[in-house]
Amino acid sequence: MTETLDIKITKTTTSRLAQTDFTDLPFGKIFSDHMLVADYADGEWKNFEIVPYGEIGLSPAISALHYGQAFFEGIKAYKHADGKVSIFRPEMNARRFNKSAERLCMPELPEDIFVQSIAALVDFDRDWIPRNANHALYIRPFMFATDPFLGVAPSSTYKFMILTCPVGPYFSKTLRVKIETHYTRAAEGGMGFAKSAGNYGGAMLPARKAVEEGFDQLIWTDAKEHKYVEEMGAANAMFVLDGKLITPSTGENTILKGVTCDTVMALARDWGFPVEQRRVTVAEILEGAKNGKLTDAFGAGTAATIAPVGSIGHNGEEYFLSDPKTREFSQKVLKTLDGIRYGNAPDTHGWNYMV
Ligand code: PLP
Ligand code: COI
Repeated sequence: MTETLDIKITKTTTSRLAQTDFTDLPFGKIFSDHMLVADYADGEWKNFEIVPYGEIGLSPAISALHYGQAFFEGIKAYKHADGKVSIFRPEMNARRFNKSAERLCMPELPEDIFVQSIAALVDFDRDWIPRNANHALYIRPFMFATDPFLGVAPSSTYKFMILTCPVGPYFSKTLRVKIETHYTRAAEGGMGFAKSAGNYGGAMLPARKAVEEGFDQLIWTDAKEHKYVEEMGAANAMFVLDGKLITPSTGENTILKGVTCDTVMALARDWGFPVEQRRVTVAEILEGAKNGKLTDAFGAGTAATIAPVGSIGHNGEEYFLSDPKTREFSQKVLKTLDGIRYGNAPDTHGWNYMV
C-alpha cells in the first residue's frame, strides 16, 4: 500500500445535478459533475486532479487515435438504503487494467492508486449515485497514449482518466442473440483478454449486421473453427446445462476475464451448485436448447448485469429458451447480487469496497 494519493480538486461552479432526471438515465450519456485526470510522463504518474467534467484539448496526432493505444475498465458504485456507498470489487478491475496496459505496451498504474482514484471521484460525486432499483453509478477508468508522433511506436506519455455516469440497466429486454460463425473478435495470441478500445471497434460491424437481422447481441466463437462459444459483445456468456453452471474457460486469452462472471461462479459454488469453466461447444448449447436441458442462459457483465438470453440464432435457425422470470438460477443470482451490492444482504466475500 502506498501513501494516500494527493489529488488536486477543482469543484464545478455550475452543477448539473438538480437538472438531471434520475428517472430517465440512458446508459452512458449523462455524466456526473466531475472527472479525474492524471498524466504519465518521464516514467511516472503525476498531476492527479479532479476537475469539472468537460472537453480536453489534445493534439490530433496522438497515437491513441491513430494506432489504438487505448483501453478502459467498467465498474459500478451503489448507494445503500442507509446512504452508504460501495464500489463492487474494484481491485479486480485494477488487476485487469494492468493486464490491458501490459498487452498494449502501456505503463501500469499501481493497483492501490487505481482504486484510490476511483474512490476519491465517487466520494466527491456521491450525490450522483442513483437510489432507484437496478441503478448505479457506472465508473469508466481509461488510459490512452498522448505522444503527438505519427511513427508506429509506443508513446512515452499517457493520460489516465475516470468518468462516471448515473445509469440504469444497459439492456432493457430479454436478448435475442446470434452465434457468430463468420467474423472473429479475438484469436489466440491476440488481445481478446484486454479491454482495448480496438476490440470494441472491430466488433461493431458484425454486431450491426446482427442487429439488421433482428438480433440484439452476438455470441462470439473461436477464430479457428467457430465451434466453441467465447463471449458476448459486452458480457461473458453463462449457461445452466444439465444442472451445471457452465462458462467458457479464459485460458486461451481470447476472452475478457469478467468480474461479474467470477462473482456468479463464486455464488454458485457457495450454494453447492456444480460449476464448469471449460471449452463450451456451440453444438452442446444448441442441443440443450432443443432437448430442454439448457435451463438458463445469460450474459454477465458490469454494464449488462445479468442479461437473460431469450433465444439463440445459429446458421438461420432460432432456438427459444424458457421465460427468464421462471429461471431459478439466474433469478437467484440477481436477487443475491442485488442484496450484496445495495447493502441488504451480508457481504460474506468482502466484495463491497466502502467509500
Ligand atoms: N466481455 C466483454 C467483451 C465485456 O465488454 C465485458 C464488460 O466489461 C465483460 C465480458 C464482462 O466483464 P465484467 O463483468 O468485468 O464487466
Ligand atoms: C462494462 O460492462 O463495463 C462494459 O465494458 C460494457 C461496455 C462496453 C458498455
